[in-house]
Amino acid sequence: MPKSTIKTDLTITIAGVEFATPVWTASGTAGVGEEIESWCDPKRLGAMVTKSVSLQPRPGHPYPRTVETTGGMLNAIGLQNKGIEAFITDELPRLRRMPTRVVVNIVGDDQDEYVQLAKRLSDEAGIDLLELNLSCPNVARGIDQGSDPMWVGECTAKVRAATRIPLIVKLTPNTNDIASLARAAADHGADAISAINTLVGMAVNHNTFKPRLANVTGGLSGPAIKPVALAAVYKIARAVKIPVIGIGGIMSGTDAAEFLLVGAQAVQVGTATFRHPDAAIRVAEELRDYMQEHQIARVGDLVGRLTL
Ligand SMILES: Cc1cc2nc3c(=O)[nH]c(=O)nc-3n(C[C@H](O)[C@H](O)[C@H](O)COP(=O)(O)O)c2cc1C
Repeated sequence: MPKSTIKTDLTITIAGVEFATPVWTASGTAGVGEEIESWCDPKRLGAMVTKSVSLQPRPGHPYPRTVETTGGMLNAIGLQNKGIEAFITDELPRLRRMPTRVVVNIVGDDQDEYVQLAKRLSDEAGIDLLELNLSCPNVARGIDQGSDPMWVGECTAKVRAATRIPLIVKLTPNTNDIASLARAAADHGADAISAINTLVGMAVNHNTFKPRLANVTGGLSGPAIKPVALAAVYKIARAVKIPVIGIGGIMSGTDAAEFLLVGAQAVQVGTATFRHPDAAIRVAEELRDYMQEHQIARVGDLVGRLTL
């Protein structure tokens, strides 16, 4: 017997902000929104998440900085961006006019830089949420500072005290206990957690005996990391009460549904955007089809529905 058509509702609310759909772009894969408007109707995006912006301009790493791998890609862009002042003058006015939610992703070399960035952006209208990219390696200490729960807690607390804009803390998977990073962020004032950023990886050209990336190592993303991301989101959602935003290898509506089932309230679409620039909108439409098929009216009703 054919299933009846039901009215589906994809809206979700995170930190008091309502989103048209739970499917957003992922930082670094849709720039600062300048191209996306020519490929799709931003009204149909849950949110535009911008490329990480730092205090000072960063030139990024030398080329080659991307390489395709089995089921994914490596990138070593090196957080290239024009710096916060140019972001505010050149990009923010256009972002404000985009008919979607705007999430600004920030990155610092140390805690003080995150605080300065948050303060600077607090004076500006049109930013719905801040996302802290805590996945960058600290050159001085030689480790990924975002993999230290104490550092994550301290940084979150300082930024929380510096701004009223709701905060998403984006976590690195390059750790042996992502749940404790999430707990540290939640205990120190984060409004939501997003996970995961890329996994450290490397590709070698066996003919030239050289690494394929000029930076030697890079960040792995795409379908190859989806199982890692699902497990991370599953663990985080059980460890904290704040919303979790799932990221990692989402290519389709059913991929997004899987993240919601393990406990994510929203998802971000990254690498898929390089195949289809309107991937985030396609994923949302496919998620709607999936909800029809399973007779689920509200997208929120999928969250955490995994049965063990
Ligand atoms: C080319 C590229 C650039 C990225 N740049 C950033 C960035 O600037 N800031 C950030 O937080 N994450 C960045 N990411 C990570 C993505 O936002 C996302 O967390 C990761 O790619 C996993 O999702 P995916 O498998 O859907 O791509 C970047 C990813 C790629 C592929």
